[in-house]
Amino acid sequence: MIYFALSKGRLAEKTAKLLERCGIDVSVLQEETRKLVLETADKQFGFFLVKPADVPVYVESGVADLGVAGKDTLLEEDRDLYELLDLGFGKCKLCLAGYPARRSALTGGHLRVATKYIRTAERIFAERGEEAELIKLNGSVELAPVTGLSDVIFDVVETGATLKANGLTVLEEVITGVSARLVANKVSLKLKSAEILPLVEKMREAIG
Ligand code: PRP
Repeated sequence: MIYFALSKGRLAEKTAKLLERCGIDVSVLQEETRKLVLETADKQFGFFLVKPADVPVYVESGVADLGVAGKDTLLEEDRDLYELLDLGFGKCKLCLAGYPARRSALTGGHLRVATKYIRTAERIFAERGEEAELIKLNGSVELAPVTGLSDVIFDVVETGATLKANGLTVLEEVITGVSARLVANKVSLKLKSAEILPLVEKMREAIG
């Protein structure tokens, strides 16, 4: 049996569709349920449905053999695992964003940055040799500049709709090419290679 850690939320539907195109019966993923461990009827695959940030945790530990997570999450978690495939969906960018008038704040003095991606932001500002006060939030990050909690945000931008709806704009694209990735536990890839490698090939073909 191969266990997958799958992100609940924005990547869930496209992940299920991809697995279906690989011949996996994903009907259990489409059922209305609060169950967090789901198995295909043929018992070949098990699915753990977790918060995006927890996918790398389950995969690194080996509880899950494979996982699907955004590159943004993988950068933030920085776990010891193999990244096998760029799945090509969930495309977005990690950006500094805020009110257009705040553009000058990026280069001048004390900058308060609200983000879900604390570790990535720390790395970015350290690399740039710039100081920033990082404010950790867990969601609805756009609210921070709107309410004055921060000057800018460091967050993923996909369609830009959330920024626009709140009068904000991208001030700088910091990390481009963010998308969903297939990741694997290092030991699983050795011990279950006979099952995992053909599946990875099917996924590679399915994403074209
Ligand atoms: C993400 C991100 C932005 C939004 C960007 O939040 O933090 O708020 O999506 O997408 P857009 O550019 O298409 O508008 P998510 O929906 O994952 O929820 P959260 O606010 O709870 O983190």
